[in-house]
Amino acid sequence: MRAIDIIKKKQNKEKLNYNEIEYMVNSYIKGKISDDTMSEFIFAIYHKGLSIDETYYLTDVMIKSGEVIDLSSINKPIVDKHSTGGVGDKITLIVSPIVASAGVCVPKMSGRGLGLTGGTVDKLESITGYKLNLSRKEFLDSLNNIGCAVISQSERIALADKKIYALRNQIGAVDSIPLIASSIMSKKIASGSNIIVIDLKVGKGAFMKNVKDATKLAETMIKIGKYYKKKVICTLSDMNIPLGKNIGNVLEVKEVIDFFDGKYDKRLYELSVYISALMISSAKKISYKKARELVVNLLDSGHAKNKFYAWIKYQGGNINKLKDKAKKLSVISNKTGYINNIDAVKLSQLVFDLGAGRVLKTDKIDYACGIVLNKQLGDKIKENEVIGTIYYNKKVDNMESILLESFKIEKKKRKNKKIIIKTIK
Ligand code: URA
Repeated sequence: MRAIDIIKKKQNKEKLNYNEIEYMVNSYIKGKISDDTMSEFIFAIYHKGLSIDETYYLTDVMIKSGEVIDLSSINKPIVDKHSTGGVGDKITLIVSPIVASAGVCVPKMSGRGLGLTGGTVDKLESITGYKLNLSRKEFLDSLNNIGCAVISQSERIALADKKIYALRNQIGAVDSIPLIASSIMSKKIASGSNIIVIDLKVGKGAFMKNVKDATKLAETMIKIGKYYKKKVICTLSDMNIPLGKNIGNVLEVKEVIDFFDGKYDKRLYELSVYISALMISSAKKISYKKARELVVNLLDSGHAKNKFYAWIKYQGGNINKLKDKAKKLSVISNKTGYINNIDAVKLSQLVFDLGAGRVLKTDKIDYACGIVLNKQLGDKIKENEVIGTIYYNKKVDNMESILLESFKIEKKKRKNKKIIIKTIK
């Protein structure tokens, strides 16, 4: 077999067989074909696409390139959750303890942030002592004792995806439906759960910019799940405006603490409750309505909050010692009116420039910096009222005006877009 023939075949829009895709992926991870050759192959897929069978072949080869987690020693229903990444998205930290407190196990392997999207691992690292690298035994013990565990993605899971995803990032070939579907599903299937709930973000602050593409991605992932007899449920949720009021690692942990104290942003509450109920209903095989009632109960009774603290403590974190040392700058509104839009992309770029994000996986980040939105979508604001607060250790040029310009303030209140667009099973 020759790489050049396989690339030409894809460039001519012909279907590849399993052996051809396996040859390309395995040769690349063994260093037998160069980054340039693999880039040609990726671009051929990017432009000509993959059929569902080819997407499955790619997923399967990537799964087999690394280890597969065995969760058979856990005697509870298990459900995994994945988010395709969004601005201010801290819901893993909320949903995991809620679902665990309902007696459903949540084994989560999460990633670090890269580019403008934040990573759950970075948020948890802003808690002093939190251990992200548990051994396999510690991970399983935590799942058996607490019911949830969040650790960093094992280097050994879907090894090929790691290398190919890094290359895709470098050459600007991330936003391809078969490439994203196989990348996400290879990691999720290798992580061992039989039920996977995916929060698929749609909008300016997400990979998927419109509902049509997001639906296609969801359907592709559901079909791949079927090859492995895994139940995949995808919820499309709006990511045009940030999720919740805080953006930035430690600030997002603080918002989670507020959430469990009953002080929550409406959209964050709606999505968290919805995803939790979906996870519980599919794992326990009960109706969504029943599961939702249970979630609300677990929140109101404090059970979910207790689970949150127990989980953080179990993994070594000291919630009273957050890495939150930063200066504070309050930004004042120059207008009176209603907040009809908040630009997620502008804000995530600002938070990135303040030091919360990384370009390379090895870059150091500032856990404390970020933004608190003192006003939310639909709120009324008066001139000279505080609209947002910047937490910083290094200044960014024009940071005040960037924050201000991210808010669209108008005289008339517009109808808010719903956070949950649809769910596909
Ligand atoms: N997240 C992934 O894990 N892979 C992609 O390709 C895109 C988002």
